[in-house]
Amino acid sequence: MTLRPIGVFDSGVGGLSVLREIRQELPHEDLLYVADSAHAPYGDKPLALIEKRTLTIAEFLLERDAKALVIACNTATGAAARLLRERYQVPVIAMEPAVKPAVARTRSGVVGVLATRQTLASDKFSALLASHGGAEVLAQACPGLVERVEAGDLEGEETRALLAGYLEPLLNQGADTLVLGCTHYPHLAPLISELAGPAVEVLDSGAAVARQVRRRLAEVGLLAPTRGGREFFWTSGDPARLYPILARLWGNNIELAALPPD
Ligand code: DGL
Repeated sequence: MTLRPIGVFDSGVGGLSVLREIRQELPHEDLLYVADSAHAPYGDKPLALIEKRTLTIAEFLLERDAKALVIACNTATGAAARLLRERYQVPVIAMEPAVKPAVARTRSGVVGVLATRQTLASDKFSALLASHGGAEVLAQACPGLVERVEAGDLEGEETRALLAGYLEPLLNQGADTLVLGCTHYPHLAPLISELAGPAVEVLDSGAAVARQVRRRLAEVGLLAPTRGGREFFWTSGDPARLYPILARLWGNNIELAALPPD
């Protein structure tokens, strides 16, 4: 029996879309969440910086006795998942865009993947594409979209225009299945569905990752007993600035603190 928490992190509020699924899958776990808001977005940053930030945050979570680390960020996964797995003993669970289920589900044979530039340029993404033939997979980088989500603009004119521009080429080429390959984008799922229309299916991998967290913890005998179930949040940015969007995406009565400077 253990009350050790699970550590989850992202460049900002994107990983809350994964945290939500983990909370649903594992209601009794204590969850620690770090939003690296001072360094968001990761998508256009050099790899070395993402690696360094990922290690700093992992250390912070492990100091708080995290029994597993969840990289709730596709960009950080591509940049640093292997590094974390080499360095730490605890289970490290990372993201993978839902290309496999999308290829299985498409009827038109065309799948669109929305992600950051860094994710699309990563070796991990190339390997993922190479392992799933059987459909045409179109990759669309979406610079600027993470910033809209971080600003709390989930349906305003600017976000709408940006998204419409990114969806248009995919839809024009016949994509009927869209993969949200960045954890910020599920926060925009209602708008994406509205713009793409009812014939287009929108997939993300949050629920699959949450199931994977359960499996990995069960394997090592570290699932929580039937008590606990709290969340604690930290940000490397200004807590007062993050609070409103965090409250909107997660709910009220949030324990949010500033990440200690490194
Ligand atoms: N939410 C992240 C992802 O899944 C990071 C995006 C960013 O910071 O650019 O890729």
